[in-house]
Amino acid sequence: MRQSTYELTDTAKVVSLAKRRGFVFPSSEIYGGFANSWDYGPLGVLLKENVKAAWMRAMVQERDDIVALDSSIILHPRVWEASGHVTHFTDPLVDCRGCGKRWRLDELADGRCPECGGEVTEARQFNLMFKTYVGPVENDAAVAYLRPETAQGIFINFKLVQTALRMRPPFGIAQIGKSFRNEITPGNFIYRTREFEQMEMEFFVMPGTSDEWLDYWVSERKAWYERHGIRSENLRLRAHETEELAHYSRGTYDIEFKYPFGWGELEGIANRGDYDLSQHEEYSGEDLRYYDEETKRHVRPEVIEPAAGASRATMAFLLDAYDEEPDGDEMRVVLRFHPSIAPYKAAVLPLQRKPDLINLAKSIRATIRKRFMTAYDETGSIGRRYRRQDEIGTPFCVTPDFQSLEDGTVTVRDRDSMTQERIAIADIVPWLDQHMATD
Ligand code: GAP
Repeated sequence: MRQSTYELTDTAKVVSLAKRRGFVFPSSEIYGGFANSWDYGPLGVLLKENVKAAWMRAMVQERDDIVALDSSIILHPRVWEASGHVTHFTDPLVDCRGCGKRWRLDELADGRCPECGGEVTEARQFNLMFKTYVGPVENDAAVAYLRPETAQGIFINFKLVQTALRMRPPFGIAQIGKSFRNEITPGNFIYRTREFEQMEMEFFVMPGTSDEWLDYWVSERKAWYERHGIRSENLRLRAHETEELAHYSRGTYDIEFKYPFGWGELEGIANRGDYDLSQHEEYSGEDLRYYDEETKRHVRPEVIEPAAGASRATMAFLLDAYDEEPDGDEMRVVLRFHPSIAPYKAAVLPLQRKPDLINLAKSIRATIRKRFMTAYDETGSIGRRYRRQDEIGTPFCVTPDFQSLEDGTVTVRDRDSMTQERIAIADIVPWLDQHMATD
C-alpha cells in the first residue's frame, strides 16, 4: 500500500470531506449545531469500529496475557475520590476581563487572552468531571460522575478478573468505551471533545519491573500505528517533564502525531506504579493484592497503562490518509487507508448497467460481503465510480465486465497504483484476505 505524501496544512479539507462523504457530521445541525459535538456518520462508524477492532485484535486476540472488560460508565462515586479525580482532575480556568472568553491558563503563552490580548482573571481550579444525580432526588447523597477515563473500571475489577481467569502478572486488562470530560477549550474537530471514546489497557506487572515494561509498551504502541498505515514521520515520542506528570504517574511518554495545527498527543503511556490499587485498597478496605503461589507472598502489582483515544486515533488515521494528486483537469482525492482500517474493503462496480453484468456483480457482492464490508455502485461512468471509492478510501474495486461472463474472471483495481489485475471470481475472497494483512 502506498502511503500519502500530502502535507495537510489545515484540518478544514478533511472536516469538509468527512461531512460530504458521511464520516463525521457536526452534531445537532438542524438546531444550529452544538459547539464541539460531532456525530459519526455511516462511513465514520465503520472507520472507528475498524480502529477499535484493530486495537482489540492486537491487545487481546493476538496475545496470551491480556483479557477484555466492559465496565460501567457511572461507577460508585467513591471510585473517583479514591482515584484522585475529585481532588486533582482540574484545569486552571481563567476569564478574559476584556472579551469574557474562557481559557485554560496553561494554554496562554504570555498570560493574556489569545483572542483580544486582554488581561485575564486569577485562575480557579475547575473540575473536569461531569456531575449527575442517580435516582429522582437531586441532593448531595445522589451525586455521581460520568467516568472521565475507562481505567478506573479496570482497577476496581482487577481482583475479580485475576481470580476468575487465574491470571498471573504480568497480565493486562483492556477496555474500550466512552469517557466524558467537561473540557474548557474543546476543539480542533474531534481532537478534543467533551464526549469521546478511549482504548485503555492496564498492564499489571511484578513490583520492580515497571520501567522495563514501560519501554516495551511505548515501542509496541508506536509500532501499532505504523503497522496500520500511519506515516512514521508523523509520529514521535515525548517524555513528560516532572512538573507535567499526572497525579498518579511515575513517568509518562506521549505518542504524538503531527496534526495540521502542530504536534499533539495521540496516546499516553504511563507508569502508574501501584498508585491506583493502593488507593482503592485504602478507600474500599478490600485487599487487592495478588497472592503469588510461587513465592508464597502477597504482592501489589505495578501498572503500565497505554491509554489511547479511539476518536482521536480515528482523526489521525483520516488526516494521515488524506492525499491529493492532479488528475487531468481535476484533482484526485484519495484516502490512503491501510486496508485493515478502510471502511469498505472492496467495492463491486459492474462495468456497465447491463442486466447480465448487474446480476453477476450482485452475486459477487453477496459472496464478498459475508466476509468483508463491501460497497456497490452501478451509477455513473466507471471512472467516476472509481474516484468516488478513492475519496472514501476503498482499497480495491472489483469490476465484472463482458469477459467475466465468458471466463469467470474480474478486474481488481488498486486504489493507490490505479493498476488492474485480472483474477478468478472464486479467488476474490482469499485475494482480499491476503491484502488485509498488517505485517
Ligand atoms: N487513563 C489515562 C488517561 O485517561 P489521558 O492522557 O488523559 O490519560 C488518554 O487520555 C487518551 O484519551 C489521550 O491520549 C487522547 O487520545 C484521549 N483523550 C483524552 N481527552 C480527550 C478529549 N477531550 N477528546 C478526545 N480524546 C481525548
